[in-house]
Amino acid sequence: MFTSKRTDIKFTVLPKHIAIIMDGNGRWARKRGLPRPAGHHAGVKAVRATVELCAKHGVEVLTLFAFSSENWQRPVTEVSALMNLFVQALDSELESMHRNGIRVRFIGDRSSLNDELQKRMTASEARTANNPGLILVIAVAYGGRWDITQATRRLAQQCVAGILTAAEITDAHISTQLELAALPEPDLFIRTGGEQRISNFLLWNLAYTELYFCDVLWPQFDEKQLNTALQFFGERQRRFGLTGEQIAATKLHNVKGEAS
Ligand code: IPE
Ligand code: IPE
Ligand code: MG
Repeated sequence: MFTSKRTDIKFTVLPKHIAIIMDGNGRWARKRGLPRPAGHHAGVKAVRATVELCAKHGVEVLTLFAFSSENWQRPVTEVSALMNLFVQALDSELESMHRNGIRVRFIGDRSSLNDELQKRMTASEARTANNPGLILVIAVAYGGRWDITQATRRLAQQCVAGILTAAEITDAHISTQLELAALPEPDLFIRTGGEQRISNFLLWNLAYTELYFCDVLWPQFDEKQLNTALQFFGERQRRFGLTGEQIAATKLHNVKGEAS
């Protein structure tokens, strides 16, 4: 059980892993007569607040979608503004994240990024590698299809090398080759900005994730919005294909087990 200071809401179930599509920066800027990159800059504040809140609550993993494999097709000026922003934000935020025990990791096709950004990413991961707190996964140049394709390619190589046969491949083999291997699957997915789609985010990993969509644009996402998402999560009965009665019986069994 944990309590949010702001509203004193009590949450009974806390997601171990939250995955967020931070959408709506461009519209936030346009509404104010600003160029789209101004919205991306404004979004950094919401990133900082969300990371701090998740760390404070004891969430184990937070995965943020910062740039998709399809976002390369945006105008060159917007793409380069985003790449510069990533470098700047890493420079300005890393030390305070490190002090707060946060472990930073990146997923996505690094080879497509410029050298300066790649260097910052590797250095950030190394600097925070031994931290005990929240694991912050930042998806840059990431696509769910790219991730599954990479995994498939590696398994095919193992088959060619005679380490594995095609008949032996299970879904566990695929899971362990994906970018988020070894981390718990996302429990809660949040997408801001009003669209109700996955946009090639974690296609494999979201199989049983609770999906939460809200209209607020990413730069306006704050503690109140996060609390609403957490409350939504707490109200779900996660069945994983079983019946509601089976789940209720297991819960009762666990409670009895804990009491004895
Ligand atoms: C999300 O905001 C950030 C990135 C995709 C990099 P958008 O830039 O997609 O904002 P909208 O959806 O156009 O408002
Ligand atoms: C998804 O948002 C990618 C990120 C937030 C990084 P998009 O704005 O690119 O998604 P679509 O194009 O609306 O599906
Ligand atoms: Mg968008």
